Amino acid sequence: MLSSVLLAAALTAARSYYLHSSFSPSSPPLSTPELQRAGALLFRNTELSPRGISCQTCHDPDRAFQDGLQRPKIGQLLLRRNTPSLLNVGYYKSYFWDGRAATLYDQVEEPLFALHEMHSSPERIHRTLSHHPTLGKLYALTRKQQVVTSEKDFTKKALAAHLWSIRSTDSYANHAIYTPSEQQGKKLFYGKAGCSSCHAGKALTDQQYHYTGLKKQAIVRQSNIVQGQETETFGHDHGRGDVVSGKQMLFAFRTPSLHNVSLTAPYMHDGSLKTLQEVIEFYDRGGDEKGHLPRLHLSQKEKQDLQAFLLLLLDPRYMTLPQKDLTHD
Ligand code: HEC
Ligand code: HEC
Repeated sequence: MLSSVLLAAALTAARSYYLHSSFSPSSPPLSTPELQRAGALLFRNTELSPRGISCQTCHDPDRAFQDGLQRPKIGQLLLRRNTPSLLNVGYYKSYFWDGRAATLYDQVEEPLFALHEMHSSPERIHRTLSHHPTLGKLYALTRKQQVVTSEKDFTKKALAAHLWSIRSTDSYANHAIYTPSEQQGKKLFYGKAGCSSCHAGKALTDQQYHYTGLKKQAIVRQSNIVQGQETETFGHDHGRGDVVSGKQMLFAFRTPSLHNVSLTAPYMHDGSLKTLQEVIEFYDRGGDEKGHLPRLHLSQKEKQDLQAFLLLLLDPRYMTLPQKDLTHD
């Protein structure tokens, strides 16, 4: 009798685990304890950049590893895109809003060296590793272990290992006893509102690129590293359309995961939507450039329900993840 009650309780609990916390990251980079420790230190090291900034300047651990700005500024220059949260970044199969980097190791190259970001150099890296007692030791050790081949390789591998460790998927939605409103919101998300056709699977992203009908922003300055060369252009942000040939992917961006989305305002690649409410209104009217997504015609109540469900996709434990401890020398 007792065991059947327990079984029933276990089954109920199992059903509410539809967003399971144990889905695995896509393409794990090389990761050793030494690389992870070095990565955590490098992530907040300002000596790497002649501007005195670090990865953390824009990807602030206290703000879900983003900056809360529409778009970050370097001096007078407004960068072209919104800073994404790095929580669960390792789950993506490609990196940046347009997926132009295939691995975290490749991705790191750009923020580290780009003129309009940290603008580091091999000399800067050398100086940083020589000045920093722990980093210097970790470099020597990993070199000896034949895990890395050079100072630059060490820096990129360490940062990639650190990025991969920034995980937080165990949201309330895994456990919650739903209020009627949250229940309705979940139904809408997976049903009538069509959100899960793109924000699909456990990571809440189909890993694909779509144009959602976001208003095309006026002129933005774009700086890209393509095959080691930094190029600058002016014009609309074509998103994936600049990465692959043909017109099909013009203005398309990678579907972001929605885990912890309540912490990462403002939204979209250009940070143009300030709140989740604005995002829901945007989808409800079928986007601003018509013909890409259908209008949803949600009632006021349904919009509130959908938002209640999005708020549930929050893992409050991310602040106590191990990478926070690793950042102490
Ligand atoms: C000046 C602010 C700024 C700094 C400094 C910065 N980033 Fe970023 N980061 C951004 C922006 C903006 C993007 C989005 C760029 C794009 O998609 O084209 C981004 C994208 C990323 C992504 C891709 C995330 C995704 O969802 O695909 C990763 C990973 C990342 N940064 C890691 C780093 C690391 C590691 C450093 C330090 C070496 C760093 N960033 C420094 C602003 C910054
Ligand atoms: C056709 C695929 C598709 C559908 C359907 C879709 N999304 Fe999205 N979603 C995306 C893409 C792609 C982006 C990024 C767009 C951009 O930045 O230009 C995005 C961005 C978002 C963001 C911003 C996240 C961030 O970190 O900036 C939220 C929130 C969001 N969607 C929620 C929803 C909700 C809620 C629904 C259902 C009403 C929905 N989406 C339906 C593809 C989709």
